[in-house]
Amino acid sequence: MENKKILEVKELMKNDLVDSIDMNELNDLKVKYLGKKGLITELNSEIKNIPNEGKKEFGMLVNELRNEFNNYYDSTKEKLDSIELNKKLESETVDITLPSTKVKLGAPHILEKVIEEVEDVFMSMGYDVVDGPEIEEDKYNFEMLNIPKGHPARDAQDTFYIEGEEILLRSQTSPVQVRTMLKGEGKTPIRMICPGKTYRRDDDDASHSHQFMQIEGLLVDKDISLSDLKGTMDVLFKRLFGQNIETRFRPSYYQFTEPSVEVDITCVNCHGKGCNVCKNSGWVTVVGAGVVHPNVLRMSGYDPEVWSGFAFGFGAERLAMMKYDINDIRTFYNADLREVHTFDREDEE
Ligand code: DAH
Repeated sequence: MENKKILEVKELMKNDLVDSIDMNELNDLKVKYLGKKGLITELNSEIKNIPNEGKKEFGMLVNELRNEFNNYYDSTKEKLDSIELNKKLESETVDITLPSTKVKLGAPHILEKVIEEVEDVFMSMGYDVVDGPEIEEDKYNFEMLNIPKGHPARDAQDTFYIEGEEILLRSQTSPVQVRTMLKGEGKTPIRMICPGKTYRRDDDDASHSHQFMQIEGLLVDKDISLSDLKGTMDVLFKRLFGQNIETRFRPSYYQFTEPSVEVDITCVNCHGKGCNVCKNSGWVTVVGAGVVHPNVLRMSGYDPEVWSGFAFGFGAERLAMMKYDINDIRTFYNADLREVHTFDREDEE
């Protein structure tokens, strides 16, 4: 009679333990058969009512049912878990064939790029790239460049003074000439360029900026003449703008060079034919330069009887404007990255 109950449960299990089932249904089945009031649990608690001789067999049959259910439960759970896992993996798969979102790369500022090009040219000729302070002493910015106090040439460079008349924002990179010669102690030849920020009390407009970039150059050695400067300028501008670019010298005046010159180059815009950039002359002035004044050599410890040299200085913005066809110097200093990033320019082309 008790075995009949077992057969009933066995019959129920036959119908219940099917293949297609989900996790919730499986858990419901577990409650139905093995829960506190589950069918197999209840059979188990019947044992105490079974006469002794039948206990063993009854117990075995109940055990068989429990094992059958557990086997079913374990294998079905394993199957459902792996289906679940695969679904998850599939949904999280990255499709590497989809187009990617564009990554914006950083890029050098065009002014920096031009400066680097100039540095490359001079380094290939054995020059050092040196640095000097932007907050400078009057002594280096003017006096030791042969521009004594009260000299009218000071007025031309409307200077930002910081402390009295002695400390200022350098109005040119020329003081780095003096600092470099002082380091050379009158003994070592010098080949240096110095790119750096300079400051003047100009009102900002299309061609003026109160802060701008100069590149200074100084060469001191034995028997140096103006023709060495000419050759050097030729190399620089042919490398920057192409082999058909010529340079010419026009007489000029600076306190720290004698003779002094302005260096013109073939107009990059019209290649010498004449246009509004060169005011129809075919030439544009880009550099101030000359043979280093004996006073300047002497004040910095180089004997002008032994040493001679040339120096030059030019605005980096001018070159960058010519190179990248920019007509407003303020372009470099407003933060519009589309204007000043070489990357975006190359991208547009
Ligand atoms: N320092 C000059 C200026 O700012 C430029 C210059 C002229 C630099 C002649 C030089 C030079 O080294 O020899 O206008």
